[in-house]
Amino acid sequence: MPNQFLIPNSKFLILMGAPGAGKGTQAAKIVEKYNIPQISTGDMFRAAIKDGTELGKRAKSFMDAGQLVPDEVTIGIVRERLAKSDCANGFILDGFPRTLEQADALTKILDELGTKLTRVLNIHVPAENLIERAIGRRICKNCGATYHVKFNPSTKGTNCDKCGGELFQRADDNADTMKNRLSVYEKSTRPLIDYYKAAGIYSEIDGTQPIDKVTEALFNVLSSVKE
Ligand code: AP5
Ligand code: MG
Ligand code: ZN
Repeated sequence: MPNQFLIPNSKFLILMGAPGAGKGTQAAKIVEKYNIPQISTGDMFRAAIKDGTELGKRAKSFMDAGQLVPDEVTIGIVRERLAKSDCANGFILDGFPRTLEQADALTKILDELGTKLTRVLNIHVPAENLIERAIGRRICKNCGATYHVKFNPSTKGTNCDKCGGELFQRADDNADTMKNRLSVYEKSTRPLIDYYKAAGIYSEIDGTQPIDKVTEALFNVLSSVKE
């Protein structure tokens, strides 16, 4: 695991942002450029629901209601995932941590692994834009590529540009659940901004720009960060 063998230019990153801010979209670009795994707790829970596992059964009612899955469950799956060898040279966490308890747990986990965070990137988008982003989102059933009916449409209509797979809408991408997700974000997750500002590793990116401009801004921050 990473410690004295830490590879130069390794990147241990958190991508923060409210629901629909563009974390998944931008994480995919960072994965491609830096060749580090994306660790999305939301994707992990959705995969568990699809597979009908115990974890999926536990997570489903919270996700459908737009509430957070309990900390001990979420911290447990992240702890397991970060211990895998593909995380040794870095990772990009998408949607974790979301509470102060999760942030403290992450510090401890990384400590045990002999590493620490390189940077926390927050994609900032005002609340009024987020509901439209979530409601218009479409995802490929086959490869997971993310589209938006207005901002980033597939040229193949209801099928994926990349693989032709069918596009679907997430169960929690409706106006009611989205309202809960946004209020949970304000109450439980926004305080992490000050937490990471205090740690001196926080950067904010204007997420209202077009997707490619947000990517450019993120890459600019990452290329100027000292390891
Ligand atoms: P999760 O899956 O993490 O959902 P989220 O945080 O609500 O974020 P989203 O995935 O909805 O948005 P995103 O920021 O990834 O945006 P995207 O790139 O897709 O979590 C789901 C649930 O799981 C939670 O509610 C909770 O129940 C549970 N959970 C997960 N993690 C947890 C944790 N740590 N603790 C406890 N519970 C947890 O983009 C959105 C749309 O906008 C797309 O259509 C995209 O094409 C479009 N778009 C992106 N960028 C732009 C742009 N710059 N301009 C215009 N459109 C854009
Ligand atoms: Mg996402
Ligand atoms: Zn696809």
